[in-house]
Amino acid sequence: MMATTPQTERIIGSDGFQLHPADEAAMRAEAHHYEQPQAASIEALKIVQRRHGWVPDEAIAAIARVLGIGPGEVEGVATFYSLIFRQPVGRHVVLVCDSSSCFLTGFDELKQALVRELGIDYGETTTDNRFTLLPVCCLGACDGAPALMIDDDTYGPVAADDLPGLLEAYP
Ligand code: FES
Repeated sequence: MMATTPQTERIIGSDGFQLHPADEAAMRAEAHHYEQPQAASIEALKIVQRRHGWVPDEAIAAIARVLGIGPGEVEGVATFYSLIFRQPVGRHVVLVCDSSSCFLTGFDELKQALVRELGIDYGETTTDNRFTLLPVCCLGACDGAPALMIDDDTYGPVAADDLPGLLEAYP
């Protein structure tokens, strides 16, 4: 039998689909930490995203079912939190900070260099599905502005010349 990586497993939700059993168990365990199940929404969304790379509509409904809350409440959290992806993304997500410190210290040059280097603009994914490019609010790395994040790694200050070496680490 061929092994499946977490990101290739099919997501199955409440309307004919079903979450991975391990993910559902993790969500229930997370909900036990809180008086209000809504508080577990963000972790539940991260659990789905870790496995699938993004969070489809069916997953929103499935999370709501597991936590016993309305899908709108889960959707609201997903919409508010910019690191939850509601569209398919590439294997790696490059998030460019466009908040004030980065804006004043070279964000525009960095973004243009990324656009040139990757051949895509915001919201797009490279044809080899390797990178998706997105804007993000302050990464909390203002002392290293201009900053960017690739997957869970934050870098800064990043110059245009640094990009080829940085991107190379994400095959
Ligand atoms: Fe860019 Fe804070 S403004 S990391």
